[in-house]
Amino acid sequence: MNPPVSALFRHIATLQGDAPWGRFLDAGSGVNSARWSLSLSTEAWTGVTASRAHATEIHERAGSGLRSQDRLLVGDWTDPSLLAGERFDTVLADYLLGAVEGFAPYFQTRLFQRLAPLVGARLYVVGLDPYVVGDAPDEAARLVREIGRLRDACLLLADETPYREFPAEWVADALTAAGFVIDSARRFQNRYREKWVHGQLDMALRRLPRIADQAVAAALSDQIEALRVRALEHCRREGGLRAGSDYVLAARPGPQAQITGQAGLGRSG
Ligand SMILES: C[S@@+](CC[C@H](N)C(=O)[O-])C[C@H]1O[C@@H](n2cnc3c(N)ncnc32)[C@H](O)[C@@H]1O
Repeated sequence: MNPPVSALFRHIATLQGDAPWGRFLDAGSGVNSARWSLSLSTEAWTGVTASRAHATEIHERAGSGLRSQDRLLVGDWTDPSLLAGERFDTVLADYLLGAVEGFAPYFQTRLFQRLAPLVGARLYVVGLDPYVVGDAPDEAARLVREIGRLRDACLLLADETPYREFPAEWVADALTAAGFVIDSARRFQNRYREKWVHGQLDMALRRLPRIADQAVAAALSDQIEALRVRALEHCRREGGLRAGSDYVLAARPGPQAQITGQAGLGRSG
């Protein structure tokens, strides 16, 4: 059984209206985006993930929706041969931009140029406004920022690369620079619940055994648990941590993108 469709996916379906989904590309695939997009009436579905482990998880948890014309590929958008010459009516980049840092750091500025030749009619970009950097105007935002910073510190000390999110305005500029015309842009305010607090702080805790200096790891463990107490107390009092936003942008290829797409065939992203 499919889980309830998120407000963001419902919004995308509303934007799509009666237009056919056609050939569909889930350009940063995961269990959520695969489950949702495989439930749509597409002609054919292609999912791309840079991680073999992620592909296995998608197969296990969403694979029952795959038809004979559907495929899940492990590949990196920095590889110019990945889906070269193909075109999809609908392309979804669902939390792809933030994850690029872990696979192809510094490629973010070229991501939408790379996707442009593949987009036939519509590109939907789903993302998260950064909460680790920037303003934290109230207690909820400060707690979310503290959690993000502590999590990322643990990931870095355990020799991993945290995600790097970009604001909706940055995405709008990057889409325009890549030749897209933006049809719609909307923010969705976030409310982080206790489950999110545990999820982020447990992710940090799991990294501690891999930190070289175990005295530092022990101090971080104390910080994690103290922050958990404060964040959960806020969640109980306020019904969650109301901070920051996700966003959905809908774009279509402009005349420039079509020229770039043709001229760019076979070129490195
Ligand atoms: C946050 S995860 C998945 C989000 C997803 N849509 C979901 O349902 O949860 C981001 C995805 O983008 C992929 N990704 C990140 N950088 C990539 C790159 N350079 N090339 C291809 N895929 C990439 C990751 O491997 C992962 O599958």
